[in-house]
Amino acid sequence: MKTLVFFGSARKKGHTKDLLNMVLKDLNGEVEIVDAYRTEISPCIDCRYCWENRGCSINDYMQKVYPKIDEADNIIFASPLYFNNVPGPLKSIIDRCQVYWASRKRKQEKNIKDKNALLLICGGAPSYNNQFLAIELVLKGILKDLNAELVGNIYVPNTDKVSVLENKNVLKKASELGLKLKNLYND
Ligand SMILES: Cc1cc2nc3c(=O)[nH]c(=O)nc-3n(C[C@H](O)[C@H](O)[C@H](O)COP(=O)(O)O)c2cc1C
Repeated sequence: MKTLVFFGSARKKGHTKDLLNMVLKDLNGEVEIVDAYRTEISPCIDCRYCWENRGCSINDYMQKVYPKIDEADNIIFASPLYFNNVPGPLKSIIDRCQVYWASRKRKQEKNIKDKNALLLICGGAPSYNNQFLAIELVLKGILKDLNAELVGNIYVPNTDKVSVLENKNVLKKASELGLKLKNLYND
């Protein structure tokens, strides 16, 4: 089982990383983390190369990420909320997945296998209306293009006051989701 994580936090060891580690603890198989802030991936420039061709015209680390996406059984997005959305570097990676949208549009679906997906999101503010609505919309959009089915999520508000590690509900849910992914793979 191969799990590919897109990690969106500017802080290497913040709440998002704690949350991710809790889920990964109960997963087995290979885990690879694409750390958006510490990986050079340029934004999409809408050159439309992918409208006519396979792949992306920009030659950077994303070229190494595409095969990892193709091979992954699980995709995990682990991200903080920045102005209700993903931080910029993670958005760049998402936008570079336009190649998958384009291949669908051309009806030359890349041979991208079915995947399961999790969304792990931390927001610093106390719970407010629609806190996780925009980020969920963005991430569900990309999961569709990656042929990944969302099988679970953990959205944690109030991390500025209560750390993820102190949050007992989160601990339980994280462990359940890790096991769920593992069991879905075995089915
Ligand atoms: C630029 C920026 C924008 C943020 N916007 C939001 C927001 O819209 N809603 C929210 O609940 N928290 C917001 N936060 C707080 C972060 O989501 C929170 O501190 C989170 O735990 C950061 O993740 P980390 O602990 O992995 O670094 C923002 C933080 C930053 C730096």
